[in-house]
Amino acid sequence: MKVSVGPPLGVLAELTHRCPLQCGYCSNPVELLKADRELDTATWIHTFEQAADLGILQVHLSGGEPTLRRDLDEIIACLSRRGVYTNLITAAVTLTRERLEAFCEAGLDHVQISFQGAKPETTELIGRYRNAHEKKLQAAGWVRDLGLPLTVNAPIHKLNISEVPDFVALALEIGAERLEIANVQYYGWAYLNRTALLPNYDAVMRQVEYVEKTRQELTGILNIDFVTPDYYADYPKPCMGGWGKDAFVITPDGHVLPCHAAQSITSLTFDKVTERPLREIWEQAEAFNRYRGYDWMPEPCRSCDRKDVDFGGCRCQAFAMTGDAAATDPACIKSPDHGALRIMPSAKRIHPRVIGREKASA
Ligand code: SF4
Ligand code: FES
Repeated sequence: MKVSVGPPLGVLAELTHRCPLQCGYCSNPVELLKADRELDTATWIHTFEQAADLGILQVHLSGGEPTLRRDLDEIIACLSRRGVYTNLITAAVTLTRERLEAFCEAGLDHVQISFQGAKPETTELIGRYRNAHEKKLQAAGWVRDLGLPLTVNAPIHKLNISEVPDFVALALEIGAERLEIANVQYYGWAYLNRTALLPNYDAVMRQVEYVEKTRQELTGILNIDFVTPDYYADYPKPCMGGWGKDAFVITPDGHVLPCHAAQSITSLTFDKVTERPLREIWEQAEAFNRYRGYDWMPEPCRSCDRKDVDFGGCRCQAFAMTGDAAATDPACIKSPDHGALRIMPSAKRIHPRVIGREKASA
């Protein structure tokens, strides 16, 4: 059956893979692209014009570190002219006040700063960048001075899970509107570093209880989004809100992907914005249509009443763990491959909670 394709809502634009930090859970591919493979300014702008024509409402400007692109203000200005909401996702360690002012003048709508730890020593240890924490705090101050909304993104794993209360205190202290407690998702670099990063069950449960209590206490003061780790869940998360359903990703060299990790699925090939119109890629590309809708689903997903909730989970996780991207996500308790994640007694496992808007990953 042909699946009807609606307009996309959001784009995650990975403007570059260059980054001053070296986080062990980076969501960029294990094979990073060098600067000479990046799209030039005119091609990015032409691509965003096409995205606006497609009906895109918001673009997350990401990387790597997107502020390393000298043309970022031009890109923001183009999106702003077209009425597209822009969110800058930055590590903020190389940002200057002058550049942030230029982004603001160009029409930037929102800034998200990642903190690798809630304490200076943790931020430095995980990102491997000297004085990173102080630089981030300074950048957060500039964001507030310029009147931009601020989100703190906290990727959580074994090395910083004990700092979750400190992340909340930090977000309150710097006046953030929103805090993303985003447990690391295990594909790409994080999959390779799983043993070092995966927190134990008790630490995850303490975190869940704390976040639930604190979210209620801080209602109206701080919006806390929370993504639990799949490895302790009974059901998977609705990855990307469904494959090819609402959003797509553009890589630094112009490949258009249904999710940021899609190139890890080696059985798929992806089109580039330099070779095919964006609308045609979104509506017709084989890689997008392969897992759209429900026809591709195997049992137990096909007859499951949760298929409208999680869309069968994550294709990249299914491929990484089973070698078959069409398999039921092993995070699901009904998956025949669930044993690969079954590291805790089932009675104590938790359900995934994806509250608020999910970064086309964390
Ligand atoms: Fe989701 Fe498939 Fe599991 Fe049902 S069987 S909960 S659709 S992953
Ligand atoms: Fe690719 Fe989930 S990360 S579908």
